[in-house]
Amino acid sequence: MGLRTHQVVLIKGDGIGPELVDAAVAVLEAVERSAGGFHLELDLHEAGAELYRRSGYNLGSQSLQAIRQADATMKGPVGLPDVRLPDGTEAGVIGGVLRTGLDTYANVRPIRLLPGVPTPLKAEPGEIDYVIVRENTEGLYLSRGKGIVTDSAVADTMMITRKGTERVARYAFELASGRSGAPADGTRRVTCVDKSNVLASFAFFRRVFDEVGEGYPGIEREYLYADAAAQALVVRPQHFDVLVMENFLGDILSDLGGGTIGGIGLCPSGNIGDDHAYFEPIHGSAPDIAGQDRANPISQVLTLAMMLDHLGERAAARLVGDAVSGALESGRLVIGDGGQPVGGTRAAGETIASVVAELAH
Ligand code: IPM
Ligand code: MG
Repeated sequence: MGLRTHQVVLIKGDGIGPELVDAAVAVLEAVERSAGGFHLELDLHEAGAELYRRSGYNLGSQSLQAIRQADATMKGPVGLPDVRLPDGTEAGVIGGVLRTGLDTYANVRPIRLLPGVPTPLKAEPGEIDYVIVRENTEGLYLSRGKGIVTDSAVADTMMITRKGTERVARYAFELASGRSGAPADGTRRVTCVDKSNVLASFAFFRRVFDEVGEGYPGIEREYLYADAAAQALVVRPQHFDVLVMENFLGDILSDLGGGTIGGIGLCPSGNIGDDHAYFEPIHGSAPDIAGQDRANPISQVLTLAMMLDHLGERAAARLVGDAVSGALESGRLVIGDGGQPVGGTRAAGETIASVVAELAH
C-alpha cells in the first residue's frame, strides 16, 4: 500500500510570508498524520524581493525549473516596497514569470464568509460564497515591464485575445457547473464583469464570453459593468456564484470581495493553467508587521487546501477547510477587528492543526 506522493515547490516569500507558510506547513503535517494516504515532498526555494536585493534576480533559473517540474507550487506573499526596478515597479514580484511565463491563465479567488469572523456587512456565513476567476496572463498587466516610457509620458496597453478569453471563460463555466449555485437563489450563474460600455477591448471580452457561454445552457449568463459590480458585491453579494473578468479588474474586485468577508488576510487563490499551477494568498507581504507573530495565517492555510484539492487530495482539502471553519466557529480561533488572530500567527496555525487531528478521529 504505497503512499501517494506529490512534488511541491515551497516559496516562503517576503515580509510575513515565512510565518504564514510555517503555519500552513504545521497544518499540512497534521493532515498527513491524520488523513494519511499521501505525502507532499516539499522542495524549498527562495524567491522575491530579499533575494533580488542580494542577488539582482527575484527567481533563480533552478527554482523556475523546479516549479516547471513540480506537481504544484505553494508560495507566501512576495515583494517589499523599498525594493524596486528602475521603472518604479516592485522588483520582488514574481507574478510575471509564474503567471504569463507558466501560462497559469485562471486566477481562482474564492470569496467565502467564514463563521465567527467580523465583517463590515450584515451577512451570515453561507450568504457570501462566490469565486472570482481573474484572467491571469493578459489584460492590462500584460504590459508589465513593456510599457512605453518617456520623461513626459508613459503608456501601458491592455491586450484581450480570443484565445485568452475563451479559455478563462470556459474555466469559469466549468467551475460553475461543479458548484451549487448562488446563495440567494441556488442558480448556477457566471457573471461577466467588464467596461464594454467604454472600451472595445472589453466589448470583445464580453462577446467571446457569450460565445463560450452558449455551450453551457444550464448556466445563467449575466453581465455587469465593473463599477456597478463593485457596488453589487457590497450590496447584494448573495447573488453571485462565479464571476469572470480581465486581469486588472480581477485584481481590484478580489480585494474588494476580501474586504466584505473580514479582510484579504482570509483569502487564498490558485493560479491554474493546463500544465502548471501555483497557489498563494491574494494579499501582499505586510512588512510592517513581519516577524511579529501577528499576521493572519488563514489565507495561507486555505491556499494549502486549494492546492491539496488541485492535487486530487480532496478529502485532505476538505479536512483543512473544515478545520479552519471549526476553529473559528468554536471560538478557539478568534480574528480580531484588525483582521489579526488573537494569540498570534503560530498559535492560530497550531489551533487549526489540532482541530484537523480532532476532526479526523
Ligand atoms: C495579487 C497582487 C499582485 C497583482 C501584485 C503583488 C503584483 O496584488 O496577486 O492580486 O497585482 O496581481
Ligand atoms: Mg492584488
